[in-house]
Amino acid sequence: GHVLILAGGLSYEREVSIRSGRRVAEVLRAAGVDVETRDADATLVPAVLADPPDAVFVTLHGGAGEDGAIRSVLELLDVPYVGATPDACRVAFDKPTAKAVVRSWGLNTPDSVALPKETFHDLGATAVLARIIDRLGLPLFVKPSRGGSALGASMVRTAEELPAAMVGCFAYGDTALIERYVQGVEVAVSVVDLGDGPVALPPVEIVPDRGVYDYAARYTAGQTEFFAPARLSPEATEACAGMAVAAHTALGLRDISRTDLIVDADGKPYFLEVNVAPGMTETSLLPMAAEAAGRDLGTLCKGLLELAAI
Ligand code: DAL
Ligand code: MG
Repeated sequence: GHVLILAGGLSYEREVSIRSGRRVAEVLRAAGVDVETRDADATLVPAVLADPPDAVFVTLHGGAGEDGAIRSVLELLDVPYVGATPDACRVAFDKPTAKAVVRSWGLNTPDSVALPKETFHDLGATAVLARIIDRLGLPLFVKPSRGGSALGASMVRTAEELPAAMVGCFAYGDTALIERYVQGVEVAVSVVDLGDGPVALPPVEIVPDRGVYDYAARYTAGQTEFFAPARLSPEATEACAGMAVAAHTALGLRDISRTDLIVDADGKPYFLEVNVAPGMTETSLLPMAAEAAGRDLGTLCKGLLELAAI
């Protein structure tokens, strides 16, 4: 048998996905697994039908790769895959929905407004933005509600910066998430479940050289400094791990996820978002967390595939 890695796709994160897929293929081969990599295009269905894989590892980021669509196809084909079901992906990938769910479970998440492009235009940009600033204050963080890799995301320090941020955001999606900006340390906590329940890997602290963890800072080696484990107090570390596991559980996720958080000056974490297909590139966070935990990435991915295939 063999396993199938899905990478590429038509989202804005295609290049990232190709790099994730390449890395997962490398580490799985090193762990002795027979691997095939395919794009998620129309050739997928006949290829899977002709030679069904034992299990699929989805390293598609954004769009169909994370919103549940591709996983619905895999369900239809009756091939096992690592990670969340289509239903869970749909909820988790939509940031306003995911925030509402985790908040209903008592997790802390910055106050925010979800603003569809139509509403923005129909209500009048100036009036609606003034209302949002009234409600949330400044600074704000604007991002597409269904995006990734910081594409279309920007920080807004003054009211004058908000309209441009909205234009940048709507270039990447039809609904904007406008969130109160919490000053603090950016931390990512990966969660894996190898059959004994979800377990948090060490938190990774993100310190971008230019202060902003944008696309370039994410995927250009050397533009961001990472601390794994994060330089947090034992209490804050515990709180971050607890939040990531709680988010994974509350959202009904499976096998693997990564929760991105901000830890404020008091050591209090805020949930920002969860990734159902966490980046696996050379500069991505889950592989760093695995390394910090002394876990071999190939063995980890192989374990998840074997569990999925049972
Ligand atoms: N969306 C990118 C791939 C990440 O979260 O790692
Ligand atoms: Mg993300």
